[in-house]
Amino acid sequence: MASHSADCRYPTEMDEAIKKLESALGPTDVMVASAGVGYPTAIDLENLEQTTETFQTNVLGVIHAFRSVLPGMIHRKSGQLAAVSSLAAFKGFPGESAYCASKAAVNIFLEGMRIRLKGTGIVVTTICPGFVKTPMTDINNFHMPFLVSAESAAQKIMKALEKRQSVACFPWQMSALVGLLRVCPDRLIQWLFADYNSSSPNQSG
Ligand SMILES: NC(=O)c1ccc[n+]([C@@H]2O[C@H](COP(=O)([O-])OP(=O)(O)OC[C@H]3O[C@@H](n4cnc5c(N)ncnc54)[C@H](OP(=O)(O)O)[C@@H]3O)[C@@H](O)[C@H]2O)c1
Repeated sequence: MASHSADCRYPTEMDEAIKKLESALGPTDVMVASAGVGYPTAIDLENLEQTTETFQTNVLGVIHAFRSVLPGMIHRKSGQLAAVSSLAAFKGFPGESAYCASKAAVNIFLEGMRIRLKGTGIVVTTICPGFVKTPMTDINNFHMPFLVSAESAAQKIMKALEKRQSVACFPWQMSALVGLLRVCPDRLIQWLFADYNSSSPNQSG
């Protein structure tokens, strides 16, 4: 599988990268939009630049990536669109509001696309990992339950793509934990995240 990187916030740059790639390797069968950023959300929302970048990269990046290959896929009546979202999409975790909201937007966007594209030969796969050991999480100074290696995450993603799954959440332990946290009262979440919030950067902007 070939991979290519372009600034996913700018559609023209993305289009040019795809054009170059397709002229060398042929049409895109599978698009996996994986680029993403994550910053703690400041309590006073003063880190607006980081919040803007979060939505531009995590949400618009996915839309631009899909748009750059969809016309060809629709024409060929085949293809697979996938995005690496997160289990964070399922709950607004304190201190991570922007990241969680961006991933929730990805999930809903893909859900709509999946329903819209049914019967066209194009499948849409939403990938929701828990904590994965990558440079994004290497900077975290808090306990990350059920952390998996990048290799293990890659295997799970490949399997989900091959099975043309609609939504793939992993690891199951973290998926179950997030399911539980979704129905917990706010007060319990506040207590569970007390340490994280007191040591999190950007507390006051
Ligand atoms: N690590 C986790 O625990 C975890 C859990 C759930 C979901 N995810 C999601 O998994 C995806 C991959 O994250 P990761 O853990 O591999 O993080 P990472 O190590 O920080 O990698 C992020 C990737 O996104 C690219 N990127 C960032 N901004 C971009 C932009 N504007 N245009 C093009 N590329 C851009 C980076 O490219 P450069 O290297 O060129 O900057 C890098 O390749 C993200 O969507 C993340 O939200 C991660």
